[in-house]
Amino acid sequence: MANDVDTVSYDVRDGIAWLRFNRPDKRNAMSPTLNRAMMEALDELEFREDVGVLVLTGEGSAWTAGMDLKEYFRESEADGLKGVRRAQRESYGWWRRLRWFQKPTIAMVNGWCFGGGYGPLFACDLAFAADESKFGLSEINWGILPGGGATKVAVELLPFRKAMYHAMLGEPVDGKTAAEWGLVNESLPLAELEARVTEVAKKLLEKNPVALKATKDAVRRVGVMTYDEAEDYLVRAQEAANSYDATGRKEGIRQFIDEKSYKPGLGAYDKSRS
Ligand code: COA
Repeated sequence: MANDVDTVSYDVRDGIAWLRFNRPDKRNAMSPTLNRAMMEALDELEFREDVGVLVLTGEGSAWTAGMDLKEYFRESEADGLKGVRRAQRESYGWWRRLRWFQKPTIAMVNGWCFGGGYGPLFACDLAFAADESKFGLSEINWGILPGGGATKVAVELLPFRKAMYHAMLGEPVDGKTAAEWGLVNESLPLAELEARVTEVAKKLLEKNPVALKATKDAVRRVGVMTYDEAEDYLVRAQEAANSYDATGRKEGIRQFIDEKSYKPGLGAYDKSRS
């Protein structure tokens, strides 16, 4: 029986939580044990005051090789519908938690990213990949459809023809192609990946955290709304944010208009003085 603590690891440095899939021998395949450990880790990290950004990455040569074919599929199925539904709840559960995480999240894709891995990939707000990484909807290669949200992720992120080809052919693409297609924001050599992700995380740490949460939720929410619904949602989301952050925007205006100490078009106001 795998150890809950070992399948996931994290440390927090300078405001950034580095959360890792930690089953390198199994290419970080997501077993029920790992899925439970991820939910626990997210629970522990989400509201910590020393965490401003969360980065999800993998130990070893994989980000994640997707669902564990033995422990997630075969062994759960052996327990009947009850086992299958439980395993689904646990995996979908932490991806959902990650999609709506309080802090900004970044997928740092260091290697293999297959199938079920598209769930946490999409759950992260931003994604950066190594050129050397490989992305694939490999389900068709072992005889199932891309479930667990993977088909939805492909359709959300890719144009129709690319999504269809990607899902039907099961051919992996490298990080550069993933970036061209829009699966990730950028791809760069593995040796430069962590530095670039750290740079982006630091920029996020400078922003108003209440505004960041409102913004990331808004980007995810408005896609399925009509223009009028989105307009209304955004008004109300900002007014709700104001109750958690009464002074932030006023201070942002003050530092620009009265103090002339920064330019909003070029960078963030100094939130330490709110
Ligand atoms: N489920 C269960 N075990 C997995 C796994 C998965 N998704 N992916 C890798 N592993 C295991 C292998 O069985 C092997 O275990 P063993 O050492 O006990 O034999 C170990 O991880 C190493 O895998 P291996 O295939 O030897 O590594 P590799 O570096 O040569 O290849 C991959 C890496 C990712 C290309 C290959 O492991 C693979 O195709 N995995 C399945 C990917 C997939 O289809 N995922 C979708 C699931 S929804």
